[in-house]
Amino acid sequence: MRDQAESLRQKMLASRGALAKSIAVVSGKGGVGKSNFSTNFAYALIAQDKKVVIVDMDIGMGNIHILLGYTPTHSLMDYLVGTKGIESIINKTDEGLDFISGGSGLEQIMEWSEATFERLTYVFEHLQRNYDFVLFDMGAGATAQAIELIMAIDEVIVISTTEPTSITDAYSMMKFIVMRDPDTSLYLVGNRIPKKKNGNEAVLRLQFAMRKFLGKETTILGCLPEDDVVQKAVIQQKPYFLAYPNAPISKKIVTMTEMFTTFQSKEVQNSSSFIKRLKSIFLRGRE
Ligand SMILES: Nc1ncnc2c1ncn2[C@@H]1O[C@H](COP(=O)(O)OP(=O)(O)O)[C@@H](O)[C@H]1O
Ligand SMILES: [Mg+2]
Repeated sequence: MRDQAESLRQKMLASRGALAKSIAVVSGKGGVGKSNFSTNFAYALIAQDKKVVIVDMDIGMGNIHILLGYTPTHSLMDYLVGTKGIESIINKTDEGLDFISGGSGLEQIMEWSEATFERLTYVFEHLQRNYDFVLFDMGAGATAQAIELIMAIDEVIVISTTEPTSITDAYSMMKFIVMRDPDTSLYLVGNRIPKKKNGNEAVLRLQFAMRKFLGKETTILGCLPEDDVVQKAVIQQKPYFLAYPNAPISKKIVTMTEMFTTFQSKEVQNSSSFIKRLKSIFLRGRE
């Protein structure tokens, strides 16, 4: 029986080819649109035949399930404490997006027993084998725990609005990340761009500052407009990409995912290092 399962696993791995890319969606300041970006970006990737799972890491404030209109019964924490199996914490929407709610208690990650940590890496290994993209929707700001996790993740998408405080907080967040690991891939997304405003200004300023002061190159994925359909979709608990596919913001998110996947295919796949990095960070934290 075990051999059969193992050979099935090997076949699945072989048929899927590469392991999933892990992506963290972050911002310096809260309320800039990370969760709305994550859900719509995920659906736009799914429309490109990618398999995507979102892990809601906004501990205590997670709202991915609200945006999707689904009530999750179990969280990642339920799996980690051993009360639930891995399949029962993966929620599936009818439209093809899977998601996991973090649950409370994850913030103590560095104080966990090795056994609990082993279960966490097992979950991530499972996700890496079964999806093309694992999207972590993070809470705002640079809490120590969030940074530890971000350090293990392959790529980081930073969201900023045009507000000066959002821009400076995004810069501080990226500075923090780059000082810890200069090689992290950073993508910039502008959000809630007012109609009359020169849209790219905020992300261009960020890109310029990163290059000038930190010697770090970042990639601009693009900018999303301020659009009433976002709020309408939130009220309907359905992502705008699905509810309003013809809205300018939905078309923009398609362009962004196309650009993002183009960058991905040009890169050497080295995702297996995610688990390795996570383990070494955990072990370092316990020294
Ligand atoms: N492009 C946009 N246009 C209009 N409103 C937006 C846009 N993006 C986000 N919002 C609004 O901003 C609020 C915060 O968005 P959310 O995705 O929850 O942010 P975060 O996850 O960063 O805290 C939501 O009420 C949403 O309706
Ligand atoms: Mg959020």
